Amino acid sequence: MLRTILVPGQPFLDSLKTYVGFTDESSATLAASHALVAPHFGTIIDDFYRTIEAHPGARAAITGGHEQIERLKRTLLQWIDEVFRGPHDLTYLERRARIGRVHVRINLPQAYMFTAVDRIRVKTLDVLRATLAADTDRLRRVSTALHQLLDIELAIMLETYKEDLEAKNRTAERLSTIGQFAAGIGHELRNPLGVMESSVFLLRQRLGQLSVDDAGLTKHLDKIAVEVQRSNKTINDLLELARNRAPRRVLLPAKALISRALNSVTVPPAVAIDVAAAEEVLVDGDPDQLGHILANLILNASQAMNGSGRIWIQARRLGSEVELRVRDDGPGVPAEIRHRIFEALFTTKAKGSGLGLALCRRIAESHGGDVVLEPSPGGAAFLVTLPTQHGPAS
Ligand code: HEM
Repeated sequence: MLRTILVPGQPFLDSLKTYVGFTDESSATLAASHALVAPHFGTIIDDFYRTIEAHPGARAAITGGHEQIERLKRTLLQWIDEVFRGPHDLTYLERRARIGRVHVRINLPQAYMFTAVDRIRVKTLDVLRATLAADTDRLRRVSTALHQLLDIELAIMLETYKEDLEAKNRTAERLSTIGQFAAGIGHELRNPLGVMESSVFLLRQRLGQLSVDDAGLTKHLDKIAVEVQRSNKTINDLLELARNRAPRRVLLPAKALISRALNSVTVPPAVAIDVAAAEEVLVDGDPDQLGHILANLILNASQAMNGSGRIWIQARRLGSEVELRVRDDGPGVPAEIRHRIFEALFTTKAKGSGLGLALCRRIAESHGGDVVLEPSPGGAAFLVTLPTQHGPAS
């Protein structure tokens, strides 16, 4: 069942505005000052990133070099433009929460939110003081509105860190509760499922021997086989969760890992699979566990597509990491649930256990890596990053 989404909504925004005294008039005051500050946006933004680059701790968050900074400058330009232009409504809040979640995802320490906002505050106030020196009353009103809004921005950013912590706590709690019951129930169910599996096999064989060609019957047998496979998968996920064992690392070609995962899942014939993995890309990890992640992502993709479509599986070395990407051309993951899909027991699928992605993340993390849902224009794209321990590629 889809649970309530944790996006801080209108009441949260209203309560922040009321607390600091930010009104429609404050919004209008900022909007009226846009033209004054806009010519200086470039200077403010250059200072913002110069400060980050000069600070070793903050600089560490910029992993994509000059190119990433240039891209971030463009997004910050839009951000500061919206600070002044508004409207400071629910859509604004949601956009801000999305930015906050990007920072959470890259593990940016929240302390930098204060220092970074301070930098913008100081530089923007300098501009306002210089341009409104002759109009002290207006200067006071704009400065107040700016202070209020930047503090609201901070509150939203911090809320996304809290949201992430709460999700992690919920997942940890659920995983430990599940773990306590999993082993017993899993073992109980494994035997009957094994019996069903071999009965289906024997029935198919018998029908073949008797030369019975009954499409209806075959369809029902196929259904049983699919459902048994699904139940087995849930049980395997449960047992894996309960075990929570440390990875047994070996070095193996990514290509072999992908083949292993593909062999362990049944994908409808109308789902095409493209694999792009150079021979020399090596993965450093537990083949069973990493195969489990890929199998899960491939199964998810094929289920999302309703029978036909394309799945791309890619492996590549990027610096000191290996990236495994599973992308599909299905309907994608709705924006309002994207930040929750890795929570244990969170599912929107009528037949999902809500364990698969939580388990994927746990395995990736136990390898020192991560799995995330990437922004993608269409379909869903999951990226697994794994550190390599065998030195840079030659
Ligand atoms: C006033 C505070 C900040 C604002 C308003 C801000 C704004 C933004 C925006 C608009 C994005 C793009 C989000 C998206 O992709 O949808 C972003 C992403 C990002 N920000 Fe910030 N940011 C702030 C502070 C920082 C600081 C202090 C750092 C580093 C120390 C930082 C590093 C990043 C990185 C690495 C990304 C990810 C970009 C990517 O996907 O390549 N941000 N930020």
